[in-house]
Amino acid sequence: MTEQTLAIIKPDAVKKNIIGKIIQRIEDEGFKVSALKMLHLTKDEAKGFYIVHKARPFYESLTDFMSSGPVVVMALERENAISHWRLVMGATDPAQAEPGTLRHAYGFSVERNAVHGSDARETAEWEINYFFKK
Ligand code: CMP
Repeated sequence: MTEQTLAIIKPDAVKKNIIGKIIQRIEDEGFKVSALKMLHLTKDEAKGFYIVHKARPFYESLTDFMSSGPVVVMALERENAISHWRLVMGATDPAQAEPGTLRHAYGFSVERNAVHGSDARETAEWEINYFFKK
């Protein structure tokens, strides 16, 4: 069934000048980019976005990183968009990511892992709404 997911090209990937390569892959995978914008998150915006990880030891570092430079946020549409985008990204830790996945190709560490994707229907809706209020 057609659904939407939220994708982010993280600051490490934007710095590496691979926005185009990542969006090409997204289109090659049959996603429609239904919304897109580049923005530089404030620390508070990054904290708000990752609020579910508030109690985790990596929360401060992750939100520092996510507010360290521009990101590209997108709403992607496709059949099974959420699970398919997770497949294309690969495992959170680039060292564990399968060859052919974006994180295998472009990720550096569990934090600097090039891209983000929603993990479920409810989070996708919440995350899309966080950046693209209707
Ligand atoms: P992301 O898909 O953006 O969702 C939460 C992020 O937390 C994750 O990718 C990682 O970049 C980051 N993170 C940092 N440290 C960890 C960790 N130890 N376990 C899981 N995620 C982590």
